[in-house]
Amino acid sequence: MRSSWSIGDVEIPTRLVLAPMAGVSVQAFRRQGRRFGAGLVCSEMVSCAGIEHRNERTLGYLRVASDEHPLAIQVFGSDPDAMGEAARMVAATGADIVDVNFGCPVKKVTKTGAGATLLEDPDQACRIVEAIAAAVDLPVTVKMRRGLRDGSRACLEIGPRLVECGASSLTLHPRSAEQMYTGSADHALTAELVELVDVPVVASGDITSRAWAQALLATSGAAAVMVGRGAQGNPWALREMVDGDGSEPTREAVVAELVLFVRETVRELGERRAASFLKKFYGWYLGRGRFPKPFKQEILLLDSIEEVERRLLAVAPGAIELLDRLESEIPAGDEVTLELPVSIYGGG
Ligand SMILES: Cc1cc2nc3c(=O)[nH]c(=O)nc-3n(C[C@H](O)[C@H](O)[C@H](O)COP(=O)(O)O)c2cc1C
Repeated sequence: MRSSWSIGDVEIPTRLVLAPMAGVSVQAFRRQGRRFGAGLVCSEMVSCAGIEHRNERTLGYLRVASDEHPLAIQVFGSDPDAMGEAARMVAATGADIVDVNFGCPVKKVTKTGAGATLLEDPDQACRIVEAIAAAVDLPVTVKMRRGLRDGSRACLEIGPRLVECGASSLTLHPRSAEQMYTGSADHALTAELVELVDVPVVASGDITSRAWAQALLATSGAAAVMVGRGAQGNPWALREMVDGDGSEPTREAVVAELVLFVRETVRELGERRAASFLKKFYGWYLGRGRFPKPFKQEILLLDSIEEVERRLLAVAPGAIELLDRLESEIPAGDEVTLELPVSIYGGG
């Protein structure tokens, strides 16, 4: 898992990629992913519709910091010209890779002709990839589902065409859009896709342990695995996958990571948006048998973030020293903002 590979000329130090997840992959999540062993991190999807309708409701903007690299920024949309311009803006933030979303199954996105619908319109999908590849010098990658309907094998038809149009890597989440997150990812399709293309393929879907990650790499021929839900509130899963260190984190380590996450997210989103955004993370971090249920409930009911932090540090005072160390290692004040709206409608 700790061997390097490349997408175009971008070198990626481990075989583990942190998944793009709308409403989850904020900067704190990506930075943490890099610290725990992800060789590549990906932003949640940003909308190129922001280029056409600058006055649309703003959902917040993406901020990029120096310690996230290598970083892919994911764009979604349906118009090749707008996607090309979005890609130029992405490149200007210093991103290493532009990733295109052909996997989002959410109606709000697919009804605009973006996301997974493009799997059924290979000509338009190719025009988009070509427009992006022509607009920027960075490698262009595509993330897709198997197809729209259950049992679809559309990814195997469109994948090689996208490579011909300029895609330097393909990530496959082998569920249909219709399936959303039900059933399981059919990685037999991942192995078939690997056979069809001569660029690295990344396997996404249901990967939660080192044993499974290694077996999948060996049997499918994928260049890397991508981990999403398994890393929510659980960066230690990434460490287990990369280094085989499966030890449970101490309470102090959990609290230190969570408080750091809270502070960074407040800085990125502002206190008001962060307060509701963070609730799901409290559940993810404090669950898994790490803290008693009543404590988790108590934290979820607290009104202010300041109080949350106070209660967390009171229950694990040893976390303060760890937290100081983590904070001292974070580079400050060197962020670049991408003026494209972050989508809350993610999925893929
Ligand atoms: C809450 C959530 C949001 C997601 N948002 C995106 C997204 O914006 N772009 C994308 O390509 N995939 C998105 N995905 C899909 C994941 O990147 C990944 O392919 C999928 O969750 C399967 O991997 P997993 O089983 O490791 O979670 C999202 C998934 C979840 C659970």
